[in-house]
Amino acid sequence: MTVGALARDRPFDLNLPTYSAPAVTLPRLTYHMARTHTVTVHHRQTGRIYTVEVPEDRYILQTAESQGVELPFACRNGACTTCAVRLLEGEVDQPEAMGLSPDLREQGYALLCVSYPRSNIQAETQDEDEVYELQFGRYFGKGKVRRGLPLDED
Ligand code: FES
Repeated sequence: MTVGALARDRPFDLNLPTYSAPAVTLPRLTYHMARTHTVTVHHRQTGRIYTVEVPEDRYILQTAESQGVELPFACRNGACTTCAVRLLEGEVDQPEAMGLSPDLREQGYALLCVSYPRSNIQAETQDEDEVYELQFGRYFGKGKVRRGLPLDED
């Protein structure tokens, strides 16, 4: 016997009370489709070039990963600079990029983990520690610290 035939032979009669709910007017839903930009990343360490489509309201790194692209990262919070790239073309919005000085942002560096695309983008990954050196290198190797501790007293 099929399920349909079973249902016909034994109709459900649950004797449940009926309720009448007051009419509810639901707010009109508006679906917003964010603009999408083409982001091309030249991965200098592997020599590969990746192109992904990234909506304006999505982080570039996360969106690239969702499209099967593996790019450098560590903290995912805009702090460590592992995901830093140099923008060759285009603009990003990166209000949470606390690991990047205003100077380096001006020079076109961006942290992909917290960057939203604002146009089509061409970018290249940094050399290891490039951003770190640019940002902090001037503070190191300039003092009296020499090999062997304790520090000299002169
Ligand atoms: S992964 Fe650390 S700053 Fe982006």
